[in-house]
Amino acid sequence: MKKIILFADPGIDDSVAIMYALLNPGIKVLAIVSSYGNVTKEQATDNIAYLLRLASRKDIPIIGGANSPSSGEIPRFYPEIHGEEGLGPIRPPMDVQGELTNFSELYNIIRMNQDVTVVDVGRNTSLAALFILGENITDVIKEFYIMGGAFLVPGNVTSSAEANFYGDPVASQVVVTNMDNIYIVPLNVTNKAIVTMEHINMIRKLTDNPLIQIMDEAMEYYIEAYKKLIPGINGAPLHDVLTLFLMVNPEMGSSIRRDVKILTAAEGRGTSIADFRVSSKPAEKNINIYLDFNYQGFIEDFIQVMSSTGNSRE
Ligand code: BDR
Ligand code: CA
Repeated sequence: MKKIILFADPGIDDSVAIMYALLNPGIKVLAIVSSYGNVTKEQATDNIAYLLRLASRKDIPIIGGANSPSSGEIPRFYPEIHGEEGLGPIRPPMDVQGELTNFSELYNIIRMNQDVTVVDVGRNTSLAALFILGENITDVIKEFYIMGGAFLVPGNVTSSAEANFYGDPVASQVVVTNMDNIYIVPLNVTNKAIVTMEHINMIRKLTDNPLIQIMDEAMEYYIEAYKKLIPGINGAPLHDVLTLFLMVNPEMGSSIRRDVKILTAAEGRGTSIADFRVSSKPAEKNINIYLDFNYQGFIEDFIQVMSSTGNSRE
């Protein structure tokens, strides 16, 4: 079982990723770090609190992450994809207000647990802060799974940049430069992790878990948003869920070991670069970029995990 700290900014695919993590018997969630990204940090926090309440998981702390990128600029949010409040048409009830645990608690959680995996499916500001504020902290973390980047394929915010790396490219560069045992899950693979309403309906028939009711409505919104964005698409990509899937099932994907750079300014802001020439050499440190995965295996696993009772009612 992998023990994870999940950095997220829910957002619909982040929310489904949180559900997937809570329900997956191969994952133990130690903490969720809430940050700005798809929505404000306050909204992300309430959304996480709502999901944890529905899953009856009072034991998982919500850690207060970043409010804005390290540049201090005002973040741009994406209501057209994730809804005004991040869960499509759904609003957490008024009495749900996430209580935040101080960021410094992360250091205790990491040191108290052996072999922690960090998964970041949002802007990388909080993860970079973990490194900047902590002494030798990254040496005790087993591995990092990062959803971000687009390598030689179009971006989703600019022609070449993906949203998470674009949001705080300086932080993303801090992460890829200073951490080791990194697995990057870019748009190259996540854009293909398409889940359709047929898949969701299948899951709905198999379970009456209240989390899944939320997923149903949120996914309907998310899929409609993607249909407007990409005519002819039959579902929507679950970027953040694929990242968790590959973290638990690394053999279901293939990756290449290469150094990664993220451009931090001007036209190229957020663009991720690696050398894929035949003559290029593997990175000295263990940094890997996923370029392919088993789609059928992903869908089967997704349906199975989401329709199980998992760890949700501990
Ligand atoms: C990433 O950006 C966010 O909108 C999604 O949640 C995902 O983490 C995809 O570019
Ligand atoms: Ca995300």
